[in-house]
Amino acid sequence: MVHSRLCRIKNVIINWCGGPIRSWGTKGKSPLNIQMLNPTSWHIEPTSRCTLECPGCDRTWYRNTFSKQIIQDIDVTALTNFFSVNNFLGSQIRLCGNNGDPIYHPKFISLLESLKSQNHSVRIHTNASAKTEKFWQQVCDCLDHKDQIVFAIDGLKDTNHLYRKNSNWQQIMMAVNTVVGCGINTEWQFIVFKQNQHQIQQAQTLSKQLGIKNFRVHKSHRWIDDSLDQYMPDKEYVEEMYFDHQEIVDGVEAKGTMEPMCGMNRETFIDSNGNIFPCCWTATYRFQYKHAFGKQPINIAMGKYQLPQPHSDYIKSTQEWQTAPLVCRLHCAKY
Ligand SMILES: C[S@@+](CC[C@H](N)C(=O)[O-])C[C@H]1O[C@@H](n2cnc3c(N)ncnc32)[C@H](O)[C@@H]1O
Ligand code: SF4
Ligand code: SF4
Repeated sequence: MVHSRLCRIKNVIINWCGGPIRSWGTKGKSPLNIQMLNPTSWHIEPTSRCTLECPGCDRTWYRNTFSKQIIQDIDVTALTNFFSVNNFLGSQIRLCGNNGDPIYHPKFISLLESLKSQNHSVRIHTNASAKTEKFWQQVCDCLDHKDQIVFAIDGLKDTNHLYRKNSNWQQIMMAVNTVVGCGINTEWQFIVFKQNQHQIQQAQTLSKQLGIKNFRVHKSHRWIDDSLDQYMPDKEYVEEMYFDHQEIVDGVEAKGTMEPMCGMNRETFIDSNGNIFPCCWTATYRFQYKHAFGKQPINIAMGKYQLPQPHSDYIKSTQEWQTAPLVCRLHCAKY
C-alpha cells in the first residue's frame, strides 16, 4: 500500500456497511423523478450493539476515535407503525446496518414477528456469535421461504477471529447448524483478508458440508485506514472501487456518470435511531452530519413519510457528477 498517497485521504471515506444491494429490488431503472419517495426495499439497522470489534467497522472506528460508544435500538412499534401508515407492506428488508449486529437488538424476536406480520421478506446479516440455540430456534420460527440469513464468517476456525474479534467459532457453528436444520435459506459471506485468502476453497467446501445454500466471496474496498494494512489481501482480492476512491479523493481528473441508487428507490436506510437516509453510505458517522438527512433528520416516529425541500434537493444533486456530494461520487458513479 502506498502510504504517502493514502495519508491525504484518510478520515474521509467511506462505506462501512456492504452498501445497497443492486440486484435485490426492482429490476432495471425506475425514473429518477420518483426520487426516494416510493421505496421498493429497505435497509434497516436494528441496533448499534455488537459483541465483536471488527477493526474496519464504523462502530469500532467511532469508539477508537471518540472513546465512547453510541448505543441505540430501533423502536419496534414506531417502525411497524411507520410501514403501516405509509402502506409500505410486503417490502424487501435487509436487516444489517453500519454500526451493529441485528441479533443483539434486545427485542429482536419481536422485531422479526412484527416485520413478518406485515408480509415483508427479511435478509439478516450477522456474525452469529454469543447467542443460544434457543434464540436461533426462535429466529427460525419467525422466518419463511422468502427470508435469508447471511452469516459473516471471514475464514475458518483458526482465522475468523483475527478480523472478527471476539467471535466464537463454536457458537457460530451451532447457529449455522440450527438455522440450516430449520430449512432456512442461508449464505456464507466470506470477506477476503490476508489471513484467510488461502482458505477460500476450504471454506467453500465446509459451507457445502454444513448445508449452507450459497457461498459468497466478498472483496472489500475498505483499505483507506492505515490500521487495516495488516489485513489487506493480494490485489486480486481487493474490490476495484477502492482504486477509484483513491483517485477521486486524490483529486485526479476523474469523471463519472451518476447512477444514484436513491433515485431508483432502493434500499432506503433507517438507522437504529429511526432516522431515514437515502442509503447506508450517507448515514455513516463520518458523513451523516454533512447533509440535510443528518442535520434535520426525518424519523420513523413522524409516521407519514415525506421529503422536505432540503432533502429532495439533496437527492436531486446526486444526479449529476458536477453537483453530487463526495459520498455519492464515491458510491454511485460509473467510470
Ligand atoms: C456493520 S456490519 C452489520 C452486519 C453484521 N454485524 C455483520 O458484520 O455482518 C455491515 C456490513 O459490513 C460488512 N463488513 C464488515 N467489515 C468489512 C470490511 N472490512 N470490508 C467490507 N465489508 C465489511 C459486514 O459483513 C456487513 O455485511
Ligand atoms: S460484527 Fe458487524 S457490527 Fe459487529 S463489529 Fe463486526 S462489522 Fe461491526
Ligand atoms: S447517490 Fe448518494 S445518496 Fe443516493 S444512494 Fe448513492 S450515495 Fe446514497
